[in-house]
Amino acid sequence: MYYIGISAYYHESSVFLTNNRGTNCFLKEESFSRIKGDKNFPHRCLKFLIKKFDLKNENIKSICFYEKPFKSWWEVFYYSIKNPLQNREFLIHHLKNFNKGSIFFYTDINKLINISRNKIVYSSHHLSHCLYGLSVIKNVSDYVYVTCDGVGEGETMTIYTIDNDYKIRKIWTNFYPNSIGLLYSTVTDYLGFEINEGEFKVMSLSSFGKPIYEEEFKKVFDINNFTINMDYFEFHKSPSKSFSNKLRKVFGEPYLNISEEANFNKYANIASSAQSILEYTMKNLIQKAMDLSGKKKIVLAGGVALNCKMVYSLSKQNIFEELIVPPSPGDSGSAIGAANFAFLEKSKTKILDFSSIFLGPKKNLINKKKDKDNFFSKINLTNDFIIDTVTKLINGEIIASYYGSNEVGPRSLGNTSIFCDAKNKGAVINLNLNLKKRGHFQPLAPILVEEDFEKYFSINKSVVKNLEWMGTLCDAKQELYNKYSSIIHVDGTCRTQIVKDKNSLTYKILKNLKENGSDILVNTSFNISKDPVVFDLYDVYVNMKRMNIKFVLMDDGLYQTKDI
Ligand SMILES: [Fe+2]
Repeated sequence: MYYIGISAYYHESSVFLTNNRGTNCFLKEESFSRIKGDKNFPHRCLKFLIKKFDLKNENIKSICFYEKPFKSWWEVFYYSIKNPLQNREFLIHHLKNFNKGSIFFYTDINKLINISRNKIVYSSHHLSHCLYGLSVIKNVSDYVYVTCDGVGEGETMTIYTIDNDYKIRKIWTNFYPNSIGLLYSTVTDYLGFEINEGEFKVMSLSSFGKPIYEEEFKKVFDINNFTINMDYFEFHKSPSKSFSNKLRKVFGEPYLNISEEANFNKYANIASSAQSILEYTMKNLIQKAMDLSGKKKIVLAGGVALNCKMVYSLSKQNIFEELIVPPSPGDSGSAIGAANFAFLEKSKTKILDFSSIFLGPKKNLINKKKDKDNFFSKINLTNDFIIDTVTKLINGEIIASYYGSNEVGPRSLGNTSIFCDAKNKGAVINLNLNLKKRGHFQPLAPILVEEDFEKYFSINKSVVKNLEWMGTLCDAKQELYNKYSSIIHVDGTCRTQIVKDKNSLTYKILKNLKENGSDILVNTSFNISKDPVVFDLYDVYVNMKRMNIKFVLMDDGLYQTKDI
């Protein structure tokens, strides 16, 4: 019997299916629709699952939606009608879109599967974040669970404790519009980046600046009481504007061209100041969680937890024993939290246990064999395709990877990546600027085997677990500057990934690389700038042609694209 969790209608719709006996399948709607961050009801994911797993009412135990639809709709409506004239534009938009949201979840799902109503359950937004988080740790009662995101069901921050019998207690909540997540997204918009996608760029940009606007930002957001000053915002008044003229007066004109040096420096200072305010706020929130719960270990989830520079900065404060951010702390990972809710509801005392970062489908479940033959031809330089791959990497080749099961979070962690030798400066720059079309201020991430980590990097042990899925930054040691300076960010940090699984192809490549004079690869996601990560072999082919990548490593060998 399958449990299914669904996250949809707001950002990055996703579905997770499990039978809790080894069959798991995490999917994002964007993989099929090719619309980055697709928020529509994930009917393409569900059609895929129905076909592959022969889903029907009889073999589905429960389907859980990640939040409570009416509560979610009502909370925004309720806030808007407090000041209907001022919020008129937003209110009309909200009412007009009543039938496009999650309220019609049951209707939408019934168009695809004729499922009994009693098999549909609803979690709540922050609880879904929390329940995914608790899947990646042992001894659940040792931790306090902190969630922080833009807004979900009218809540922006929550603190939970969970006992060993999985009794969950929400011990503190903060409410909309008091949201540090929405402040950061507003700064993202102000700087000219896309909300829900560009927050990573603000984080990278912040390392180039100084937090000279900290005092101004402290008037916008109270870091001790977690309250926001709405005079600086418009997101509550209009569906298309995030900041007000007051914010424009304080920080100057928005959307400047940052390829000009003066603009770049100014925006880097604004990004740095916003990052500082986020870090102060999160430090205070975590301190509050520890004070209220008496616990020193934290699981942090919600969209804000994707800010790995914040995780790194928090680790420097030495205020907690351990902090774990699950691999997919944003809304798409909440599909797994929702499945956990469904499972816990039935079992009462057991949860799903998922520490794997590869919960997506295996590549052979996605593709037909003939697709490989249509688009690619196998290369046999020697009898060992790992040696072939490493030889090409050492010679400066950029190589794509497409093997194993898909990653669960927003970052490619080896199975759907693009690699180059981190020692080769030319290849690193070519990959970042020309192939991936990233900003020069966005660094590429290194990947290496776990046992070599301490030779090149240092990190506070309290956040070390997050290195397995690039959930934190770490510091570069002198040895890294000596050998791999092109992958170090301007502030001396790296978003490093360590590989522990000795049976994985990524581990074998890295081990072989070491025997040939290099031990770190650059690892970036297999997509172009604004596109979703590749999903099927057609995407692989098209992306390789667009980026002019010749070689792709698959489960059974090294392939090159055919000319068709
Ligand atoms: Fe969320």
